[in-house]
Amino acid sequence: MSPKKTPKVELTLPIIPDMELAAIKTAEVVAKHMDLDEEKSAEIGMALIEATINAFEHSESDSGNVEIHFVIQGDTLVIKVTDKGRGFDQANVKVPKIEEKLGSDHKRGWGLQLIQELMDTVEFESSPEGTTVTMTKKK
Ligand SMILES: Nc1ncnc2c1ncn2[C@@H]1O[C@H](COP(=O)(O)OP(=O)(O)OP(=O)(O)O)[C@@H](O)[C@H]1O
Ligand SMILES: [Mg+2]
Repeated sequence: MSPKKTPKVELTLPIIPDMELAAIKTAEVVAKHMDLDEEKSAEIGMALIEATINAFEHSESDSGNVEIHFVIQGDTLVIKVTDKGRGFDQANVKVPKIEEKLGSDHKRGWGLQLIQELMDTVEFESSPEGTTVTMTKKK
């Protein structure tokens, strides 16, 4: 394959139980195609599952679809997860602290933190029309 090509894979997933598995399976295939090591492939899979489940659980999207785009740009994988839901303001999301979570009834709220730790770059664009999470991982 010509190195100038930027292969792209696009998924449109309806919000139905376990459909996030289609996203990680695709990520595994893309990572393998890029010859990424097992560890990076697993990190991408975990970040993607968090972003996809967030779109499924929190977007309250009317269309009920989540779009996932994978683009291979040289040795960098770019993944976009887009929903057409209600959006959110990242400034209003509290950064979780383990000491506080241990003594709290609300144990959740780790997804965004995890995504940022697992990927090289992460950007959120969100409005009342929906949310796009763009994340990258370099080989
Ligand atoms: N795609 C999205 N659309 C709307 N709100 C979102 C979206 N993604 C995240 N959020 C908001 O950001 C908050 C934090 O997300 P995060 O993934 O960190 O935690 P969580 O999903 O509540 O719990 P966990 O991921 O630990 O199970 C969510 O509770 C939700 O309010
Ligand atoms: Mg989450």
